[in-house]
Amino acid sequence: MLFLTAVAGDILQPGFYGNTCPKAESIVREEMRKTMLKEARSVASVMRFQFHDCFVNGCDGSVLLDDTPTMLGEKLSLPNIGSLRSFEVVDNIKEALEKACPATVSCADIIIMASRDAVALTGGPYWEVKLGRKDSLTASQKDSDDIIPSSTLNATSLIDLFKRFNLTAKDMVALSGSHSLGEARCFSVTDRLYNQSGSGKSDPAFEPIYREKLTKLCPSGGDENVTSGMDATPRVFDNRYFKDLVSRRGFLFSDQSLFTSPETREYVKLFSENQTEFFNAFAEGMVKLGDLLSTKPGEVRLNCRVVNQKAS
Ligand code: HEM
Ligand SMILES: *[C@@H]1O[C@H](CO)[C@@H](O)[C@H](O)[C@H]1NC(C)=O
Ligand SMILES: *[C@@H]1O[C@H](CO)[C@@H](O)[C@H](O)[C@H]1NC(C)=O
Ligand SMILES: *[C@@H]1O[C@H](CO)[C@@H](O)[C@H](O)[C@H]1NC(C)=O
Ligand SMILES: *[C@@H]1O[C@H](CO)[C@@H](O)[C@H](O)[C@H]1NC(C)=O
Ligand SMILES: *[C@@H]1O[C@H](CO)[C@@H](O)[C@H](O)[C@H]1NC(C)=O
Repeated sequence: MLFLTAVAGDILQPGFYGNTCPKAESIVREEMRKTMLKEARSVASVMRFQFHDCFVNGCDGSVLLDDTPTMLGEKLSLPNIGSLRSFEVVDNIKEALEKACPATVSCADIIIMASRDAVALTGGPYWEVKLGRKDSLTASQKDSDDIIPSSTLNATSLIDLFKRFNLTAKDMVALSGSHSLGEARCFSVTDRLYNQSGSGKSDPAFEPIYREKLTKLCPSGGDENVTSGMDATPRVFDNRYFKDLVSRRGFLFSDQSLFTSPETREYVKLFSENQTEFFNAFAEGMVKLGDLLSTKPGEVRLNCRVVNQKAS
C-alpha cells in the first residue's frame, strides 16, 4: 500500500483559484444548494466521497474514475459497489466550472469544496478549505478494497486504521459523526441483527426497542437495499448521532462500538453533550483528511470520470 504523501502545506492554499477562477467556491455552493433541493440525501452522498477518495492514495479524485478496459477503478470496490452514489452531482458541478473557467478546477478540489458545503448547508460547521489538488491518472480497486473500512470493524481496529493517516482517535470519532447525515442499507446491519460475528444471535449492544424497529425494516432474507438513517435526524448535521450512540441506537456495528469501547467512549459522551466540541473537531478532522495528498503525477481532468491523457 502506498502511504507516500507530499507535504500539504507546500502545495495547498486557501483561495488557490482566486485569480484563475474567483467564482469557483460560490459555483460549487450554488450547485450543492440546488442539489439538496432536488434530493436531500445526495449532499450526504457527495460528502462521503471525501473519505473514500482521500484514504485511497490521497485526495486525487481517483474515486470518480470509471473503469476502463485496462483499469479496474474504485467505484466497484467492495465497500463502494451499490453504495457510493451521486456521481452525477460532481459531473454537474464540473460542467458549471468548465463553463466559467475551462480546465482550471480539479475534480479532487470539487470533492473538498462540495463536502464542506454539504455540511454547512445542512446545519453543520463551516471551515476554510485549502485548494490546489491535482487529479490522478489512475485508480485502484484493490487499494479501495484494502483500505476503506467495513462496518464490522470495532473501535480498536478503526483507531489503528486512522492512525496510519496521522488521524487521532478523537479525529476518527468526530469524522464518524458524518453519519449524522445520509442513509445506510439493511445490507450493512443484517449481520448485526441476526448473526453478529457468526454467533447466530443479534448484537447485544442494541437498545431493544431500536432493534425491534430495525428487524421490521430489515427482515431476515428481505430486500437489503432498503435504507435507514444512521441517526434519528439524517437530513440535519447535528450531534444527534452521538446522543443515539449513548442510548445504544447506533445503526452500524462500527458506530455503536465507539460507545462500547472505553478507548473512544469519552469522545462520544463529549460530542453528545456539547455540539460545539463536535463541530470544531469535525472541521479539524476534515481539514486533516483533505491534507492527505498523492505524490503521483496529476492533471486537471476535464471530465471527472476519465483521464485527459493516457496513464503510462
Ligand atoms: C469510521 C469508519 C467508517 C465506516 C466503517 C463507515 C461505513 C459506512 C457504511 C457501511 C455506510 C453505509 C453504506 C451502505 O449501506 O450503503 C456509510 C455511509 C456513509 N458514510 Fe461512512 N464510514 C466511516 C467513516 C466515514 C467518514 C470519515 C465519512 C465522511 C467524512 C463518512 C461518510 C458517510 C456518509 C455521508 C454516509 C451516507 C451516504 C449516503 O447516504 O449516500 N463515513 N459509511
Ligand atoms: C440491490 O441493488 C443492487 C445494485 O445496487 C442490485 O444489483 C440488486 O438487484 C438490488 N436488489 C434488489 C432486491 O432490488
Ligand atoms: C477488535 O477487533 C480485533 C480484530 O478483529 C480483535 O482482535 C479485538 O479483539 C477486538 N476488540 C474488542 C474489544 O472486541
Ligand atoms: C504522518 O506524519 C509523519 C510525521 O510528520 C509523516 O512523515 C508521514 O508522511 C505522515 N503520514 C501521512 C499518511 O500523512
Ligand atoms: C452466521 O455466520 C457464520 C459465520 O460467518 C456462518 O457460518 C453461519 O452459517 C451463519 N448463520 C446463519 C444463520 O446465517
Ligand atoms: C462547549 O464547548 C465549547 C468549546 O470548547 C465551550 O466554549 C463551551 O463552554 C462548552 N459548553 C458547555 C455547555 O460546556
